[in-house]
Amino acid sequence: MAIKAPRGTFDVLPDRAVLWSRVESAARRIFELYGYGEIRTPIFENIKLFTASIGETSDIVEKEMYSFQKGREHYGLRPEATASVVRAYIEHDLYHARGLQKLYYIGPMFRAERPQAGRYRQFHQMGVEAIGSADPLVDAECITMTSAIFRELSVAGYTIKLNTLGGDETRARYREVLRAYLEQHRDELCENCRARIDRNVFRALDCKEAGCRRVTRSGPNIQDHLADADRAALDTLRNALERAGIACEVDGFLVRGLDYYTGLIYEFVHGGLGAQNAICAGGRYDRLVADRGGPIVGATGFAIGMERVIMLLEQTAGELADPRRPRLYCVNVGDETRPKVFEVVDSLRSRGIAAEMDYEGRSIKAQMRAADKLGVPFVVFIGTQEIESGTVKIKNMQTGAETPSAIGEIAETLRKNPEVSSQNSE
Ligand code: HAM
Repeated sequence: MAIKAPRGTFDVLPDRAVLWSRVESAARRIFELYGYGEIRTPIFENIKLFTASIGETSDIVEKEMYSFQKGREHYGLRPEATASVVRAYIEHDLYHARGLQKLYYIGPMFRAERPQAGRYRQFHQMGVEAIGSADPLVDAECITMTSAIFRELSVAGYTIKLNTLGGDETRARYREVLRAYLEQHRDELCENCRARIDRNVFRALDCKEAGCRRVTRSGPNIQDHLADADRAALDTLRNALERAGIACEVDGFLVRGLDYYTGLIYEFVHGGLGAQNAICAGGRYDRLVADRGGPIVGATGFAIGMERVIMLLEQTAGELADPRRPRLYCVNVGDETRPKVFEVVDSLRSRGIAAEMDYEGRSIKAQMRAADKLGVPFVVFIGTQEIESGTVKIKNMQTGAETPSAIGEIAETLRKNPEVSSQNSE
C-alpha cells in the first residue's frame, strides 16, 4: 500500500500554491508597512518552554503536543510561536537592543487535534509579537494591521470580538463570582467543567458542550466586574478602532485557550467557515516575558490561521492561472539536437526568458501538443539544419507568423517583438 500524507496534514500543489504565496506576500507587505521585522525560530523547542508558557492544564499541552525525546532532551513541535518568540527575545537580549520590538513570523505549527474542516495537525500561522509596551494602542495597531491584510486579500464579512481578561484585581473578583455561580449549577455542567471550577474556572467559558454554554452564558459577565484600569484599557482600544473605522463587538464571554494571556484579547470570526470560525486570534500577555526570566515588559500579538483564510479565498478564487507559463518552447527536431536545445533553453533562462524543452523523448508532434497545453506563445524548432545555419524561426503560436533569428539572439529578437514585450511576464 502506498504511503499517504499523515492524517490532518496536506500537500499544496503548484496551482494552489499561488494562493498561498499571494496570502504570504500580502501579509509580509503589511507587516513591514507597520514596522514589523521577520523572526524565524526553530519548529521544535525544549518541551518545557511550551508547557510553562501555554499552561500545564491547557488542551494544547495536555492533549495536543507532538513531543519526542533525543538522548536526554525532551522536545516539542511548536503548537504556536509566541512562546518561541519570547524565548528568542530573552535569549538575544532584544530588550536592551531597542525598546519595543515588533516581530512577525509565518510558518507551520503542530497540534494533534481531531482533524476537521479548518482544523489540521500541521497548520500555518502568520503572526506578530510586539514586546516592550503595555499601551492598548499597540493592540489597536495589531487589529488594524490584521484588518489591512484582510482588506488587501478581499476577505470580508468577519466580526471582531473583543474582551479583557483583566488584571489581578478583576480576575480575583470575577473568579469568585464565577465559581460561586457555577457551583450552584454544578449538576448541569459536563465532567470537565466540574473539575474546572476549582482548577481553572475561566476555562469553563470556553467549553463547547451545549449544557455548559447555556449555564455560562446566563451567568456573570466579566464586563460587569472590571477594575477601572481594565475598563480604561478596553475603552482606549475601542476608541482607537473607532477612529480607524473598524467595527468590533465586546463579548464578555470570550476567553482564550492559552494560559499566558493577561488583559485585552480578541478574535476575528467568519460566518463562512463552520465550527472552526476564528481566522485570527490574539491578545496581551504582559507577564510571560518576566515569567520566562526576562524583564518586566508589556507584550501583545496575534496569529492568523492561513488555512482558514485560504478556505475563504478558495470560495471565490475560481480557476487560478498556473504560474509556470513558459514563453518559449524549444522543439528538438531529432534526438541528436537535444544537447543544443538544452544549451539554447539554458541561455534563454539566464537572460530571464522562461523557456521549456522536452525531457520525455517525445516526437515533434507530441512536443507541439505539449507546447500548446502549456499555453506557450512562441516556439522554435531546432534541427541539424538550424544548427548548421545558425538561424531559427520563432513561431508565434497564435498568428502562425514566423520571425527569423540568429540562434544565439533569440532573447533579443523576442524582446524586439512588440507582441512579446506587451506580455508582461518577464
Ligand atoms: P490560537 O488561537 O491558538 O492562538 O491560534 C490562532 C489562529 O490559528 C486561530 O484563530 C486559527 O485561525 C489558527 N489555528 C489554530 N489551531 C489550528 C488548527 N489546528 N488548524 C488550523 N488552524 C488553526 C495562538 O496560537 C497564539 N499564539 C496567538 C497569539 C500571538 N497571541 C498572542 N500572540
